[in-house]
Amino acid sequence: MTSARRLGMFLMLIFLVCSSTLASKNDGDFSNCESIVTKWAKSSTEYRVKESKRTLKDLLFFLHIPRTGGRTYFHCFLKKLYVKSDECPHSYDKLHFDPREPKCRLLVTHDDYSLMSKLPEDKTSVVTILRNPADRIFSTYEFAVEVAARFLVHPNLTSAIQMSRRIASKSPGVSTLNIWPWKYLVPWMREDLFNRRDARRQGEFRTIKESRNPYNVSELVMPLLTFIEDPMAHEIIHNGATFQVAGLTNNSYVAESPTIRHCVRRHPVLGRYILDVAKNRLDRMLYIGLTEDHKGSATIFANMVGSQVLSQSQALNMHSDKFSANETGKKF
Ligand SMILES: *[C@@H]1O[C@H](CO)[C@@H](O)[C@H](O)[C@H]1NC(C)=O
Ligand SMILES: *[C@@H]1O[C@H](CO)[C@@H](O)[C@H](O)[C@H]1NC(C)=O
Ligand SMILES: *[C@@H]1O[C@H](CO)[C@@H](O)[C@H](O)[C@H]1NC(C)=O
Ligand SMILES: *[C@@H]1O[C@H](CO)[C@@H](O)[C@H](O)[C@H]1NC(C)=O
Repeated sequence: MTSARRLGMFLMLIFLVCSSTLASKNDGDFSNCESIVTKWAKSSTEYRVKESKRTLKDLLFFLHIPRTGGRTYFHCFLKKLYVKSDECPHSYDKLHFDPREPKCRLLVTHDDYSLMSKLPEDKTSVVTILRNPADRIFSTYEFAVEVAARFLVHPNLTSAIQMSRRIASKSPGVSTLNIWPWKYLVPWMREDLFNRRDARRQGEFRTIKESRNPYNVSELVMPLLTFIEDPMAHEIIHNGATFQVAGLTNNSYVAESPTIRHCVRRHPVLGRYILDVAKNRLDRMLYIGLTEDHKGSATIFANMVGSQVLSQSQALNMHSDKFSANETGKKF
């Protein structure tokens, strides 16, 4: 290649780089983003009011937003209402979820709403629980610290990672470390805890002052402020519940999801389209609980969802009794 040509290509490269950085600042980027976001919003909004939304369909999809107390509903209600064989295999674990499994009636997962695209939509009822976003963020931080801190019993990070691999291979079932968003948040926090421990050992911190703000003890653990301002938190935690209901988390089946999140981060005014879609989805759900009103929510859950699950199970049993009676009898 001649040096003139090389220079030409180099200039073209500079031009491309410049024009793309310019584009990110001028209106072109905004209108491009706006058109991507509104197109998605339009195709994701259901305008019909479904008469049957109060009726439990064949499949109950519990969209479990992390740190809303959903596990209580799972263990105390759903697991008791359904028999084990009704649970869709590998609930909580998208990687192994087989949407073609025909007979399952209960799906509980931290996956986002976009999973609906893999389910028989008109035969699926969705339920979820919401919580004040600020409290949810505190709780996310606390849980990440709590789970990560369990590894400190190991002498060093290498041994902790080896141990978690061994746990994962022994129990192919669901572990916190395998499921979104913990599979990202916990290893990140774990590594940070080990780094701080190493720094303490090397005498980088003199004393740990007592009676300090527990969210800001940097000698021991990543402070809340550092946590929440990290790009990882921006990607996974900020507006997490809205993105999950909208089906746009970084665990989404929607191909444009990263682009849309990127656009909204850059142009927060576009966030209202996401919020509108999320609200529209909530409108069509069978049930929504509130963490803050646990008693009221649990009561409504029992009346609204629990009773329908029971009558559905009864109907199914009667049907299968009749069916097997016919099957065992003469040919019909
Ligand atoms: C970390 O722990 C493992 C297992 O206990 C040990 O084999 C390894 O030597 C340790 N590494 C360091 C750097 O201390
Ligand atoms: C956290 O504590 C440090 C002192 O250790 C202080 O300088 C800083 O302002 C505190 N940050 C917050 C957000 O309270
Ligand atoms: C989701 O976010 C995590 C943490 O930032 C990142 O490691 C992962 O690659 C992301 N996944 C996708 C599909 O973007
Ligand atoms: C069982 O057989 C009877 C008569 O043969 C029929 O009327 C009934 O509908 C059948 N039930 C089912 C569930 O197929």
